[in-house]
Amino acid sequence: MYRSWFECFAGCGEKYSIKEVVYSCRNCGALLQVTHDTAELKKTGADEWKELFNRRKHGNEWPYGGGVWSKKEWVCPEVTPENVVSMYEGESNLFWADRLGKSLGLSNLWIKLCGNSHTGSFKDLGMTVLVSVVKQMISEGKNIRAVACASTGDTSAALAAYCAAAGIMPIVFLPKNKVSIEQLIQPIANGALVVSLKTDFDGCMRLVREITKNDEIYLANSMNSLRIEGQKTVAIEIAQQFDWRAPDVVIIPGGNLGNVSALGKGFLMMEELGLINKRPKIIVAQAKNANPLYRAYKAGFKKFKPIKAKTTIASAIQIGDPVSYEKAVAILRQFDGAVEEATESELVEASVAADKTGMYSCPHTGVALAALFKLVRRGVVGKNSTVVVISTAHGLKFSDFKYKYHLRRLSFKSKNPNMPVEAEPKLDVIRKIIDRRLAKSA
Ligand SMILES: Cc1ncc(COP(=O)(O)O)c(C=O)c1O
Ligand SMILES: [Zn+2]
Repeated sequence: MYRSWFECFAGCGEKYSIKEVVYSCRNCGALLQVTHDTAELKKTGADEWKELFNRRKHGNEWPYGGGVWSKKEWVCPEVTPENVVSMYEGESNLFWADRLGKSLGLSNLWIKLCGNSHTGSFKDLGMTVLVSVVKQMISEGKNIRAVACASTGDTSAALAAYCAAAGIMPIVFLPKNKVSIEQLIQPIANGALVVSLKTDFDGCMRLVREITKNDEIYLANSMNSLRIEGQKTVAIEIAQQFDWRAPDVVIIPGGNLGNVSALGKGFLMMEELGLINKRPKIIVAQAKNANPLYRAYKAGFKKFKPIKAKTTIASAIQIGDPVSYEKAVAILRQFDGAVEEATESELVEASVAADKTGMYSCPHTGVALAALFKLVRRGVVGKNSTVVVISTAHGLKFSDFKYKYHLRRLSFKSKNPNMPVEAEPKLDVIRKIIDRRLAKSA
C-alpha cells in the first residue's frame, strides 16, 4: 500500500530503503530526503484525509492517537504498530497570544507550543519516528547496538527517552558547559551514555559522524531525514488547528536548520494532496551570535560560509555549520522566505515580554519573538496577518537566564525585571507593598 523511501536530495536519482543504514547519498554525498508514493496517497481525497486525521486526534487506537502517528501514512508507513515507540507527542497547544499580539498591533498572533511535549521540545516529533524505525530494523534482525547523536541538549534528551522506552542503548555527545542543567540531567536520568566534550556542537557533530560510520551505531541527528518526517507534522497540526488553513506567516528559530526544512515539507505535502491551497511566508530567526543562515541570506544565498558560533543564551541554536543548510534554503525559496537575527538583549527582552502575557518562553522562542517584533515594526509582517511563532522548547528547561534577568545578574541591563520583594511578615508592611504595586500598574 503506502510506501516511502530515501532519495538523494540533490536529485541524482539514488534511492534506498527506509530500513537501510544510510544518511547521505552514496553517489554524490548530498543529504537524503524521505519521499512518499504520492500517487497512492492521492487515491484518498483531501476531505477524507482531513476527516481521518481529525477523527484520530486524541483517540485510543494504538498508535494513532498522537500528533505524529495520527498521520502515519504520510510519515512512516513502513513501521508496524508494535514497533512504534511513541509518547503521543505532538498535538501541542496553539496558544492565542492575545495580549502580546495586541501590544504589537496584531490581532492574530499564535504561538505553537512545541515544548509542551514528553521531553520538553519539538525534538520528540522526529525522534519517535527515528527510534521506531530502529526498533523495526532490530526486530527484522539488523545488528544495531546503539543509537548516537550530537546535541545542543534537546535532541539528546529526546533520543535518551525514546531509546530508554524501547530498550535500545542511547549515546549522546554534548558540548561541555554549553547545555542547561535540565538538558544535561535528562539523558543521564534515562540511562544514556553521556559523553561531555570540550568542544562546541559543530565539533560534537563531526565526531558523531565518524563514530556512526560503523553500522552498529545508528546516527540520530537530523541529517538523518527520518527525523524530518516526524517534525513535518508540526505544519499539519497548525493547519488542522486553523480548520485546515495555512497561516500567513510562520516564524521559527533556526540552528542546524532541520526544523525549518521539516516545516516547509509539511506544508508542501498538504498542498500537493489538496489539504491547503496557499503557502505561508516562512521566516527563520537566528541569534546574532550564531547567524550563518542570516549572513548567507543577506548575501542572496550565493555562497555559504560556516562560522564559529559565539556563545548565546539561546544555547540550543549555537550552531555555526548547519547540516540542513541546502534543504532550508530550498524551503525559503519556495515560501517567500526571510531570515532575521536577534541580539542577546533583544531575545531576552522578547522572551520576558511574552512571559508577562502568560507564557514561559525558552530563549529560542525569544529569538523568534524578537524577530517578529522587528518585522512588525518594519512592516514586513502586516498587522492583519495571521502569524504563528514556533516555540521550540519548554521554558522550564532554561530557567537560569530568567532568574538572572529578573535578579539583574546578566551581563547586560535588564529593562523590565520583576524582583522578589523581601518583607517583614507583618500585615501592614505587606499591605503597603501591595498598594505600591497596584498604584504603579494603574
Ligand atoms: C529549543 C530549540 N530550538 C530550536 C532548535 C533549532 O532547530 P534546528 O536545529 O532544526 O534548526 C533546536 C535544536 O537545534 C532546539 O533545541
Ligand atoms: Zn546523490
